[in-house]
Amino acid sequence: MSTLIPATLIAGDGIGPEIVEATLAVLDALKAPFVWDRQVAGLGGVAAAGDPLPEATLESIRRTRLALKGPLETPSGGGYRSSNVRLREEFQLYANLRPARTIVPGGRFDKIDLVVVRENLEGLYIGHEHYVPIDGDPHAVAMATGINTRQGSRRLLEYAFEFAVKQGRKKVTIVHKANIMKALTGLFLETGIELYERKYKGLFELDTVIIDACAMKLVINPWQFDVLVTTNLFGDILSDLVAGLVGGLGMAPGANIGADAAIFEAVHGSAPDIAGKGIANPTALLLAAAMMLDHCRLGEMATRLRRALDDTLNIDKVRTGDLGGKASTAAFTQALVSRISRS
Ligand code: NAI
Repeated sequence: MSTLIPATLIAGDGIGPEIVEATLAVLDALKAPFVWDRQVAGLGGVAAAGDPLPEATLESIRRTRLALKGPLETPSGGGYRSSNVRLREEFQLYANLRPARTIVPGGRFDKIDLVVVRENLEGLYIGHEHYVPIDGDPHAVAMATGINTRQGSRRLLEYAFEFAVKQGRKKVTIVHKANIMKALTGLFLETGIELYERKYKGLFELDTVIIDACAMKLVINPWQFDVLVTTNLFGDILSDLVAGLVGGLGMAPGANIGADAAIFEAVHGSAPDIAGKGIANPTALLLAAAMMLDHCRLGEMATRLRRALDDTLNIDKVRTGDLGGKASTAAFTQALVSRISRS
């Protein structure tokens, strides 16, 4: 019997509650030792507490330091900031880990196994933006400031390099635009090379590539990459690109990792167009749950979960509509649970 692990659970908006229930059923079948503290955020937070990120939710994560969350909608109007961005800032979740692995073969690319490690707190996403009015046009000039620090770059690069070593990865590629943004992304590049030479040389191969060339190379020959590490904006774009290589956002999990907390989620949003219809694909959140199990040193359960997903999708051929199948969320979940109970 494993030690019980307290964790915060946020069902989220739209399809959130449906895919979270599916994930809980699968985690129960695995006998995962999480003790859930259910909290609300997003539209659910506004409805319950007048805040998309209520204090009780923050308090819960401060206590558990571990959360699984469904997608959150940011209410338009009312001056609300994205709850996802606030969570990253509040818990200093500096590393965003987004693996992309082919699970259903036969797509445009087979046998993809890539990981994007994105800096989550700095760069052009710090929100220092303003307009300069000229001649009565209030939006005559738009300005944004990006900030990268050596300390912030180093901790993210160190996280990526440690991840590569632990996972036995062969190559890490630093993605940058230091030919144009010489200071902002040059600092990241320079810090990465210096860290590699000092501490990681020989443990894996280090490569560097400019973001635009990287995008082209990823769609021509994605197998030349292994782990990609980059700054916030480039990482945001590249992680959706690599999700597209393996069948889209429905298959893409994400982990937000900090020194004191970790939050696991699907990369996709709340899919309001299919919410409540019982047809959502829970795979991305299930893969996020597998990352959460790995994070809690429950690697064996994570492997069983991933194997059950592979077998259900490829041997049983039970698939939801987004993957060309006919299964409802409930039928897909049932097939997974039955695979796990036989494993
Ligand atoms: P979305 O990812 O929710 O949906 C895009 C398309 O993919 C839709 O056609 C949807 O039906 C489909 N889709 C997404 N997940 C699916 C799944 N698991 N199974 C089957 N089909 C799926 O993106 P959209 O529509 O741009 O955003 C909707 C809301 O979600 C917005 O309010 C946005 O701010 C929020 N959002 C939240 C995120 C988070 O909490 N991490 C991330 C991205 C968006």
